[in-house]
Amino acid sequence: MTTRTTSQVKVTETLTVCRLDELPQGATRLVEADDGRKIGVFHAADGELYAIEDRCSHDDGPLAEGDFDAAACTVECPRHGSLFDLRSGRPKTLPAYVPVETFEARVEDGDVKLEVD
Ligand code: FES
Repeated sequence: MTTRTTSQVKVTETLTVCRLDELPQGATRLVEADDGRKIGVFHAADGELYAIEDRCSHDDGPLAEGDFDAAACTVECPRHGSLFDLRSGRPKTLPAYVPVETFEARVEDGDVKLEVD
């Protein structure tokens, strides 16, 4: 009898998005990971940085290109209008009901960095 073991190695990629002063509160940046995924980075009014996949869970709409409400920390899908909470990636309104992926964004030596796995 043969036993197979499969081990999965999770690789995390760190992307440099831009300088923090190029991403003021209320602004958004779109970046592309090495695997082709597009990710929107948002600087909210609470001073925090949030990052979500630029693909709506409803019908693949370009989510990060939607209206960003920096005070409410939400983005509205430009295709059918679902409102997503940037903190959790969860939709707050229909038609989307499945969360989108979120990523960790941080500031390091004045640069905005993004962890993508
Ligand atoms: S594609 Fe985003 S709400 Fe439909």
